Amino acid sequence: MDDLDALLSSAPEQIVGAASLEALDNVEAELLGRRSLITEQRRGLGRLELEVRPAAGARLNEAATRLQGLLTARRVVLERLEEDRLLAEDRVDVTVPRRRVAIGTSHLITQTIDEISDIFTAIGYQIADGPEAETAWHNFDALNTPWWHPSRLESDTMYLDYGDPEDEILLRTQTSTVQARTMESQPPPVYVIAPGRCYRTDTFDATHSPVFHQFEGLAVAEGITFGDLKGTLSYFAREYFGPERTIRLIPHFFPFTEPSAEMHVSCFVCDGSGCRVCSQSGWLELLGCGMVDPNVFEAVGYDPAAVTGFAFGGGIERVAMVRHGIEDIRHLWDNDHRVNEQFV
Ligand code: DAH
Repeated sequence: MDDLDALLSSAPEQIVGAASLEALDNVEAELLGRRSLITEQRRGLGRLELEVRPAAGARLNEAATRLQGLLTARRVVLERLEEDRLLAEDRVDVTVPRRRVAIGTSHLITQTIDEISDIFTAIGYQIADGPEAETAWHNFDALNTPWWHPSRLESDTMYLDYGDPEDEILLRTQTSTVQARTMESQPPPVYVIAPGRCYRTDTFDATHSPVFHQFEGLAVAEGITFGDLKGTLSYFAREYFGPERTIRLIPHFFPFTEPSAEMHVSCFVCDGSGCRVCSQSGWLELLGCGMVDPNVFEAVGYDPAAVTGFAFGGGIERVAMVRHGIEDIRHLWDNDHRVNEQFV
């Protein structure tokens, strides 16, 4: 029984000293397990005198209960500590600055296409589309361009199939093809804007690229006038370049419009007084336009006596370069991030 007293006095320290649940399991086995002093003494109870047996048994039970209580208390503490440790390990510090991932943006040409499309869809135009590999008919004949026109030469236009004008296939030189395709496929009224890629045999230099983009506009209905054309283009100039801009239309020639004009926008750098950007003229040349030629209506099956319309077409790269002061078209094709990052 002295052993039991010694055990009871040393056990509390041993239990509290268990630093982990595993260590506590070992302490518990040692104090209350099959080979523990208490179990051994319980087994020996039968050998005791009958009259001391109940008291000895009660003492052992009491000792076991006490030890069990201490063990349970320690277990609760250790479990709490273990939980805290796991929580601390899993903690996410949401204030740590994240690593910046470059996700890129649309290219300036794409941004410009989107912006111009938005400007015209806002006033009821629909986006129209056509193939880049086109028939000579859609690129030239339907657009009132005779077979002998110099732009039809192989030196100017990239042909996929050259020879007999009846079935020549080429890479379209202008988005004006979409005028013919749209009118062929639907009756008037027509209000479309057609951005897209074009090809010419130009040598790559500061102002030319053999692959480039244009946007074409076409409005056809009863009673459309040159005044509507001017109003629409000044709306475009104000939306794209800023509310102060004015435009002027200078007579020009295009086969598919009559009369035709070149549209100029007042220089947004000097407001028309003359500066380096506008070569001192106060004006920036932007695009071609005019009233749809009756021959075009006839080619696509519209009645020139019933409808009138206007068309316009300009370079996507051109308008973007003017607005952003980009002096060399090749910057737009170089994939140089220092350029691209300026138009995020
Ligand atoms: N397609 C012409 C070009 O590439 C631009 C143009 C001029 C388009 C007059 C038009 C227009 O729709 O009416 O130079």
